[in-house]
Amino acid sequence: MRNFDINAYIRDDPKSNTFEMHRDVFRDPGLFEMEMRSIFEGGWVFVCLESQLPEPFDFHCTRIGRRPVMVTRDGEGGLHCFHNTCRHRGATLRQSECGNSQFHVCDYHGWAYDSKGQNIDIKDQEAAHYPESFKSKDHDLLPVARFAAYRDLLFASLSPDVLPLEEYLGDARVFIDLVLDQGSEGMELVPGRSRYTYDANWKFQLDNGVDAYHLTSTHRSFAKVVQRRTAGESENKQVKSPDFKSRFAMDAGMFTLENGHALLWADHPTPEDQPVYGAIDALRRKVGPVRAKWMLRQRNLTIFPNLQLADTSSLILRTFTPLAVDRTEMNLFCLAPVGEADAPRSKRIRQHEDFFNVSGLATPDDTACYENCQAGLDSGVDDWLQCFERGMMLIRDGGNPAADELKINPRNSLYSTYGVQNEVCYHAAYREWARRLSGVAK
Ligand code: FES
Ligand SMILES: [Fe+2]
Repeated sequence: MRNFDINAYIRDDPKSNTFEMHRDVFRDPGLFEMEMRSIFEGGWVFVCLESQLPEPFDFHCTRIGRRPVMVTRDGEGGLHCFHNTCRHRGATLRQSECGNSQFHVCDYHGWAYDSKGQNIDIKDQEAAHYPESFKSKDHDLLPVARFAAYRDLLFASLSPDVLPLEEYLGDARVFIDLVLDQGSEGMELVPGRSRYTYDANWKFQLDNGVDAYHLTSTHRSFAKVVQRRTAGESENKQVKSPDFKSRFAMDAGMFTLENGHALLWADHPTPEDQPVYGAIDALRRKVGPVRAKWMLRQRNLTIFPNLQLADTSSLILRTFTPLAVDRTEMNLFCLAPVGEADAPRSKRIRQHEDFFNVSGLATPDDTACYENCQAGLDSGVDDWLQCFERGMMLIRDGGNPAADELKINPRNSLYSTYGVQNEVCYHAAYREWARRLSGVAK
């Protein structure tokens, strides 16, 4: 690994209210290699939901950074996560995203494994004249170093040297709970998902997931459509999505949490438009008035490095996988309570289609902006970006009344109105980025 001077990439000095990132952070292939090793292949990464493997022998394939992995459910219901690679010549055992199979038989030479990863057949072994040393080898699938669940969310790490998952998630668990507690019988993915790639760095999505500032410019066309509907100028009566401008005077803020996680929040101008609104009395009884209030607030949560839960225009789960320094794969799902009634489910899906879906009015505009950023940064100009200081003078060390009522201890907090459209929420991820690349963090 090359000599690495973190000060060449990040200027983070709270005393002088400075936070800047160098443009190379988004375009340098050498840094990308380091990110893959120290972040995606060196720590906890979200892999999938347990509910994506409901039945015995279900499997689900994904990647941790560049590494293909598969999650399996065995016949007794246990979950496992293996490197998706045959012990014989290394072929991926499964190429499809998901499926159900008691056994995993390699297409190449037919070695077979069960759902616990055990090698159960080496084809034509009797005739092979293998040496004794071969026979005594372990031929089973290789498990990832760490695999753990927080409720329905499954995480894995290729490095054994990580914090326990609950400790890694820390106070972010409170905000995960605000999502997962919305269903009395749990939460589920609405069938279907958006999968797409964009030609830009993965951190553009990381940042955009908590970017309050871009809405009124990037999503101008969406805002105009919403305003036309409100004015009765649209024939489309099927969907009601919130108007950004109506948020500007609402209470809003952010928390930066330990280990790179962050939350952006705002009061909802029309909470009755939230699909969960009809169930809020029952939820209030279940989780208490404070958490019920927070369920109706708009919340954008980043779990570093690759998971975002956004409860704004419908509720989504978004995960992303870097493919190259300038290419990223996205997977986006609509989340909903199990057993949700038809009317709120319909409202939820219409809102999802309207804004977040890959064919919606928002996501393509975001993606175009990421690609514009990459193209601009590829100019090679040696300079520092100016997108990390909006709201700087409102930051507080530690918590604030909003944190107190949730009983969390954020690293930094901000409490103001949405009109600030703060950009200091990003600090959490880049502080973690710097810790990982410096080799300081677990
Ligand atoms: S690569 Fe799998 S059996 Fe040969
Ligand atoms: Fe956006």
